[in-house]
Amino acid sequence: MSGDSTQIFNPADKVAKIAHCSSMEQYRKMHEKSLKDPEGFWSEIAKDFHFEENGLGQFLDYNFDVGKGKIYIKWMAGSKTNISYNCLDRHVSAGKGEQVAFYWEGNDPADAEIVSYSDLLKDVCRMANVLKSKGVAKGDRVAIYMPMIKELVVAMLAVVRIGAVHSIVFGGYSAGSLADRMLDAEASALITTDAVWRGSKLIPLKEIADDALKICRSKNRNINVNIVVKHISRVTAPQSAANGASNGNPAKKTHFDDTVGWDDKVDVWWHDVMKDVSSECPPVWMDAEDPLFMLYTSGSTGKPKGVLHTVGGYMLYAATTFKYSFDYHPGDIYFCTADIGWITGHSYVTYGPLLNNATSVLFEGVPTYPHSGRFWEMIEKYKVSKFYTAPTAIRTLMKYGDEPVKKYDLSSLSVLGSVGEPINPEAWLWYYRVVGDSNVSIVDTFWQTETGGHVITPLPGATPAKPGSACFPFFGVDVALLDDEGHEIKGEGEGYLVFRQPWPGIMRTVYGNHERFETTYFKKFPGFYCTGDGAKRDKDGYIWVTGRIDDMLNVSGHLLSTAQVESSMVEHEHVAEAAVVARPHVVKGECLHCFVTLTQDAEFTDKLVSELKVKVRSTIGPFATPDYVQLAPGLPKTRSGKIMRRVLRKIAAGERDFGDISTLADPSVVEVLFEHRPKDK
Ligand code: WTA
Repeated sequence: MSGDSTQIFNPADKVAKIAHCSSMEQYRKMHEKSLKDPEGFWSEIAKDFHFEENGLGQFLDYNFDVGKGKIYIKWMAGSKTNISYNCLDRHVSAGKGEQVAFYWEGNDPADAEIVSYSDLLKDVCRMANVLKSKGVAKGDRVAIYMPMIKELVVAMLAVVRIGAVHSIVFGGYSAGSLADRMLDAEASALITTDAVWRGSKLIPLKEIADDALKICRSKNRNINVNIVVKHISRVTAPQSAANGASNGNPAKKTHFDDTVGWDDKVDVWWHDVMKDVSSECPPVWMDAEDPLFMLYTSGSTGKPKGVLHTVGGYMLYAATTFKYSFDYHPGDIYFCTADIGWITGHSYVTYGPLLNNATSVLFEGVPTYPHSGRFWEMIEKYKVSKFYTAPTAIRTLMKYGDEPVKKYDLSSLSVLGSVGEPINPEAWLWYYRVVGDSNVSIVDTFWQTETGGHVITPLPGATPAKPGSACFPFFGVDVALLDDEGHEIKGEGEGYLVFRQPWPGIMRTVYGNHERFETTYFKKFPGFYCTGDGAKRDKDGYIWVTGRIDDMLNVSGHLLSTAQVESSMVEHEHVAEAAVVARPHVVKGECLHCFVTLTQDAEFTDKLVSELKVKVRSTIGPFATPDYVQLAPGLPKTRSGKIMRRVLRKIAAGERDFGDISTLADPSVVEVLFEHRPKDK
């Protein structure tokens, strides 16, 4: 990925013609206003939303400079609102209740359901009443561990309707990871599902959740409410499972009903508790600065951070970025393939679309099941106009060639989005030419769990795009690039990507640890929010995000910290020390390459390698499984004992230009490590 600034793709005419922002001139004017007069800019937007009391409160108050004391950010403090009201009641009262909110489609194409705005509102009220009856109150944390089903959206909106705070844990995380997150959040309730098919694999979510609850109990946290959706018996099992050969899963699991564990004191079925409960529930009016949700993201120390967002600012930002980045208009059918367990699903499956009264596709399955044309088949079926996915999915599907795409009529598409990691120009061009038939606008949206919504992105009706560049800052975002000393790099150059002033969607704190929030994001460069990414600015002012510059890696768009994986590996009795770095991977972008030093007398065998892989899978989750594990008789350390990761990254990538390694205590280890390097698979 480099700043090749020669190729430019203008917005598709059909998009520009009707766009909310249809020229760079208009973009520049709006952007300038958003920075100079945030109150004027955002209060105009806030008029479309319902605030119950106190107008828009005190519009903006913040300190971004650690030198001046505590970091804080407040938007519209004192005003009262509720995001579930703005997502649902507002539209239903405006006569849009019958409009489709979601076309749900299951793992098997035969399973589908249509959910209208008024259906959703009724279910949300019912679940809100259930939660209240279980003692859940304003400010309580509710953990959610669910697949991509309607009840997940209902659960999150019900939680926030009564002023509680959701903490969603992606359904691919292990019991240990779920438990860590529930413990840190001090969750008082859990909402989960019996199980789900992911492709032809059965994921026993309830069983995993039970193990997590057990871990919590062993640490004196009793979570006595577990609401369980009965899902698996209502969907079509994969052919392979029906034949009794369920792809590595014991056949008995297909009769899941009989095997799901049950604790009468804790577990209740979702459908039982929803039966006789009122479908009306007034929202709890929240201060704009009350907590809305928390979502854990990897931290470079290895301990995940509970990123906390608040009600008002997040609402404005999720809604506005959705509207402008995808140029949403009534009548659009929007499809975001992200799992709600990640921030992309929070902002661009649930909140952004619902706040805009949009109609979306909600997809439970995976891109290659039952065939590699699944996404394209769904785009044709639902006439999707705006499609949002990740580079890793694009690269996976590219491998199958153009034919599975060309089988379907994709002419409804007008905007294609990408998120999660830098998109390589080759994948960008394939997305544009093959999926988009060279008649779409592509938006490569850069953002983070912490930013709440897109912070650098093209606008599809305005920005001439360059493949691989996220282009320009969104409204309210003031980008700067800094060098190591914190000096600003003006014009062309490369440095740390930082932002100068708060936009409404920025996180407010790390749950339970404000100091960590300040240290992680504000200490390095006082006066700036530090993203942890590096970026280049080319001669035309385009921003090219180059990737993480801290000890984080991005596997298939999922952030992981090297420390998290290392600490799981050293738990193995034969591992004395582990160092993990990113290795380039054609589909995943990056994958894990682990160097392990063994304890005396231990042997490096295939068995050990597979045990270590299993260890990481089970402590973190399957998506974190290392691709490469190699023996490290020694690690490249400085005399002060610090591992030189840049050397390990070079070895993992098979490159020999190490730069200066004279500060290593023992430079000869480098050659030894190279000898043990596993070849590309
Ligand atoms: C990376 C995901 C380049 C980046 C929304 C960031 C990207 C991290 C892009 C956040 C993009 C996300 N181009 N890099 N368009 N989008 N990233 O918190 O390294 O899961 O810091 O949020 O993903 O990951 P997170």
